[in-house]
Amino acid sequence: MRLRYEPRGWQRVQQPAQFGRVAVLLGGTSSEREVSLISGRAVLAALARRGLDVIAFDPGERPLAELLDLRIDRVWIALHGPGGEDGTVQGALEFLGVPYSGSGVMGSAIGMDKLRTKWLCQAVGVPTAQFVVLREPQDLDSAVERLGLPLFVKPGSQGSSVGMARIERAQDLKSAWEQALRFDPVVFAESLMPGAEYTVAILQGEALPSIRIETPRTFYDYEAKYLRDDTRYFCPSGLSAAAEEHLSRLAIAAYDTCGAEGWGRADFMMDRTGRPMLLEINTVPGMTDHSLVPMAARTVGIDFDELVWRVLETSFMRTARAG
Ligand SMILES: Nc1ncnc2c1ncn2[C@@H]1O[C@H](COP(=O)(O)OP(=O)(O)O)[C@@H](O)[C@H]1O
Ligand SMILES: [Mg+2]
Repeated sequence: MRLRYEPRGWQRVQQPAQFGRVAVLLGGTSSEREVSLISGRAVLAALARRGLDVIAFDPGERPLAELLDLRIDRVWIALHGPGGEDGTVQGALEFLGVPYSGSGVMGSAIGMDKLRTKWLCQAVGVPTAQFVVLREPQDLDSAVERLGLPLFVKPGSQGSSVGMARIERAQDLKSAWEQALRFDPVVFAESLMPGAEYTVAILQGEALPSIRIETPRTFYDYEAKYLRDDTRYFCPSGLSAAAEEHLSRLAIAAYDTCGAEGWGRADFMMDRTGRPMLLEINTVPGMTDHSLVPMAARTVGIDFDELVWRVLETSFMRTARAG
């Protein structure tokens, strides 16, 4: 049994019973397992408060096919990183015939791949920071030559700043490259964006107000994201109405271009001249109490429980075929 797909086919749901029996997928096996457990538990609690019939399901601990024995009608995917956010679990759910929240197979796979996200966005005119793919040792020299220093080294497909480094001196580039290769066979260098950092949450095809992020650390790394309390967030972000509108359009364009949908986030940084450059999209962004999508939603009057409900509504883009 495969799922039937209708783009933008989410619907406003009034009664908890219309969702049927729901499993929140959480945990998993990626390096972001711990964050996913926190996101997932928060989502689970929100759905329970709203009166849904909901259980937790950790695909890191049991086979996904057990969803069928549990007679689950749909799932809320709260898995971050490879194996949960990259299209593989989405593909498995297609074959099990279980509708799921958020982006489908392709949008998830492309969204997990920072390099392909950049290639695609570049092709449609969504600006993204300059980059050089590091395939062999000579590429390290051309990266320094073309991008200058400092620069960033990133694995092609990890989240939560895992395996990333900011490089100040050319002689440190090789070890950062090798380090990143431990996480991913594809690694690239990206020019440093000196301006402010912004993120735009997307919910059911619309951009929410942007958030500006400031950290006293050298960048918004794993610690700044989840552990520190000196990271500062501004929402409204302080952009002019025109700049806000422009950023929203870029976020939606980036999302559409990658085939991502339903909900998520697009991350940007300003270049030297104050132009927003796309860093990446996140198809299953964090849903912890530090998280950014809930923060943006709150500013337009959507509280955490309502946000979680609306994300689950996106599962109606995919419906189980009869028979
Ligand atoms: N090109 C860049 N210039 C300056 N800072 C960057 C750059 N790329 C990433 N960063 C910093 O690193 C953080 C994580 O990078 P990002 O590409 O969004 O990966 P992740 O998937 O880990 O969130 C960003 O939030 C930003 O603070
Ligand atoms: Mg990011």
